[in-house]
Amino acid sequence: MTEIITSDRRMRDIIQLAKTVAQSKATVLIQGESGTGKELMACLVHENSTRAARPFVAINCAAIPENLLESELFGYERGAFTGAVSSKAGKFEFANGGTLLLDEISEMDIRLQAKLLRVIQEGEVDRIGGRKPVPVDVRIIATTNRNLGDCVKEGSFREDLFYRLNVVNLTMPPLRERIGDVRLVSEHYASIFSEKNGKSITGFSAAALAMLESHVWPGNVRELENVIERAVITAAGNVVEDLDIAIERRQISQTLDATAGLGTLGSAAGLHDKSWNPGQTLDDIERSVILEALQYHHGNRTHTAKALGISIRTLRNKLADYRRIGINV
Ligand SMILES: Nc1ncnc2c1ncn2[C@@H]1O[C@H](COP(=O)(O)OP(=O)(O)OP(=O)(O)O)[C@@H](O)[C@H]1O
Ligand SMILES: [Mg+2]
Repeated sequence: MTEIITSDRRMRDIIQLAKTVAQSKATVLIQGESGTGKELMACLVHENSTRAARPFVAINCAAIPENLLESELFGYERGAFTGAVSSKAGKFEFANGGTLLLDEISEMDIRLQAKLLRVIQEGEVDRIGGRKPVPVDVRIIATTNRNLGDCVKEGSFREDLFYRLNVVNLTMPPLRERIGDVRLVSEHYASIFSEKNGKSITGFSAAALAMLESHVWPGNVRELENVIERAVITAAGNVVEDLDIAIERRQISQTLDATAGLGTLGSAAGLHDKSWNPGQTLDDIERSVILEALQYHHGNRTHTAKALGISIRTLRNKLADYRRIGINV
């Protein structure tokens, strides 16, 4: 059973809403920064629905190349393309009667978005090369760490699909906006990792807690979970000390009022004394942060995208934009 650890009012309201809408077949859009618990929330919706005994199928739209994503989602008939030696059902068919999680939906190609919209509207899928549509009964949950409304404005996401998906919107607050959860989540994971590693951790020293609570957590709960796992492993005694907390020093002193996006970007690069100069647009700032992070990671795009909490595809698109304006990346 999915357990979402929180004492935050906003989070509790979101969980309550999620449990209520779970009963319906409504499509749910879960937004939030990387590591805030979007997938966890999707599981919670599924588990609290009448579909709980049926499959929960997840697919990451950013991790799979476009043509493969199409056949993964919709399936194909034998001979539909070179290499299609036998027929294969798609994720929609596998999820029949249950829930399909479309992770990082903003990264789905616009052409596939049209096909997805059709499936949602008609309740049936066309396998690639198939002659007749297959009826499917699937509850769709989509997640994104980008603002999908902005993607619509930019023209990279279909407005009609956005409205279809956004029937219920659950927006996960970043961890830095619910610092009260840091202690709770830390204790939760300390006990899990303590048991897993055969240790008997009983808690945190005051200095260790202070360190955890003053960090801005650009990677949100996932980052905290990783920090706690390492701390539990390195702790010499039964108490996690500040020395065990591996957070980069330069990030610790950052103030907690870092606002969404900018704070995250600034801390990911970790190099800025000043985050804005007169005349700079948000795009300028984003560009300079991305280029700096890329340099920091010696041009490694996978590491850069991960550090910035964006998909590789998003990073690639941005770099392509920069090349168009003459930046050599
Ligand atoms: N409130 C919470 N309580 C306990 N564990 C949590 C909580 N929120 C997130 N986690 C844990 O943090 C990790 C990241 O969560 P999850 O994968 O759901 O995030 P996400 O928003 O889908 O991230 P991404 O955008 O990178 O895919 C998981 O291991 C999850 O179990
Ligand atoms: Mg996720």
